[in-house]
Amino acid sequence: MFKRFRRLRINETLRDLTRETHVLPSDLIYPLFVREGENIKVESSVMPGVFQMSIDMILEECRYIRTLGLNSIILFAIPDVKDSVGSECLCENSIISRTIQAIKKEFPDMFVVTDLCFCEYTDHGHCGVLSDKDTVDNDATLELSAVQALVHAKAGADMIAPSGMMDGIIQTLRNALDTNGYENLPIMAYSTKFASGYYGPFANLAQSAPKHGNRNMYQMDPANRLEAIEESLEDEKQGADILMVKPALPYLDIVRDIRNNTNLPLAVYNVSGEYAMLKNAGIQGLIDYDTVMCETLLSFKRAGAGIIITYHAKEYCELLKRDAK
Ligand code: PBG
Ligand code: ZN
Repeated sequence: MFKRFRRLRINETLRDLTRETHVLPSDLIYPLFVREGENIKVESSVMPGVFQMSIDMILEECRYIRTLGLNSIILFAIPDVKDSVGSECLCENSIISRTIQAIKKEFPDMFVVTDLCFCEYTDHGHCGVLSDKDTVDNDATLELSAVQALVHAKAGADMIAPSGMMDGIIQTLRNALDTNGYENLPIMAYSTKFASGYYGPFANLAQSAPKHGNRNMYQMDPANRLEAIEESLEDEKQGADILMVKPALPYLDIVRDIRNNTNLPLAVYNVSGEYAMLKNAGIQGLIDYDTVMCETLLSFKRAGAGIIITYHAKEYCELLKRDAK
C-alpha cells in the first residue's frame, strides 16, 4: 500500500484548492528611494527596476502601484547634505518629511512606513553618531532617534521602522511617541538584523556605506541562532508591534525559530542583494525570473513571515494582474 500524492496534483483547480500558502499584494511592502530635485528617476545599475526618484516621480509611482493593489511602501531618503550627526533627518522640513506629506496629501490611505536610521544622513555612513572613529555611541544615538521618530510622526508616517540596531531603541521610540500624542503609531522593529553582505546594492543605491569600518559592532553575527531569537523577543518586550528578520532568504531557519517563539506579526526584509541576484540572473537568462520570484516569496510565507518587504513587490503584483486576465 502506498499513498498516491499525485491524486491532488491532477489539475490546476485541485492544486489551487489544496495549496497551503499564498502571497497576496496585501502581504507586501514596497521600498522606495527619494532624492531631491524634480522629474528625476535614476535606475540602479546593480538593481535593474529599482530607482532613485524625486518627490514628483514618487507620487507617480504611488499612483501606479495602487492600481496593482499594492498599498504599502517603506521610504528611504537620499539627502543632498550629510554631516556627522545627520542633521537633515532631524529637521521638520527634511526630504523624508516633505515626501511623506506629499504622499499623504495625494493618497491619504496609502500606508507609509519610514525606515529610521542615520546611515543615509551621516557623512561617515554609520547608523548613528560616533564616539570615536569606528564606534557608534548607542545612547547618544537613541536620543537623536527619538527626535527623528517625531519628525516622521509629525509628517504623517503610518508606521516607523527603526533599522539601526541600537540597544533600547524600541523602548526609546515608544516612550517618545507616547508622550507626544502618538500612542497609536505602530513600530515595526528591525528586530533581528544581521551584518550582511547582501545589503551591498542598497548601500550603493542609498549612498549609505560606512566610509571606514563596518557595522559588525551593532548588527548581528550571521552565525548566531539563539541570539537571533533573543534580539527579537527583547524588542517585543520593549513594545515593538511587529518583528522582522533581515535578510530573508539566507535566514529562513531564523524566521521559523522566531515565528515559533512569538505571537506578534512577523516581517521579513527580502534585501537588495537577494533581489539583485534574481534580477540579474533573470536578465542573463540563467533562470526564469517570474517562477523563481514567486517561489522565493512563497518561501518567506512558508517559513512563517506574514509581511514581506521586497523590491519584487511591483513585478509580483503585475504578474498576478496579468495572470488574472
Ligand atoms: C539602514 C538600512 C539598510 C537596509 C535597510 N535599512 C542598510 C544597512 O543596514 O546596511 C538594507 C536594505 C537592503 O539591503 O535592501 N540601516
Ligand atoms: Zn543604517
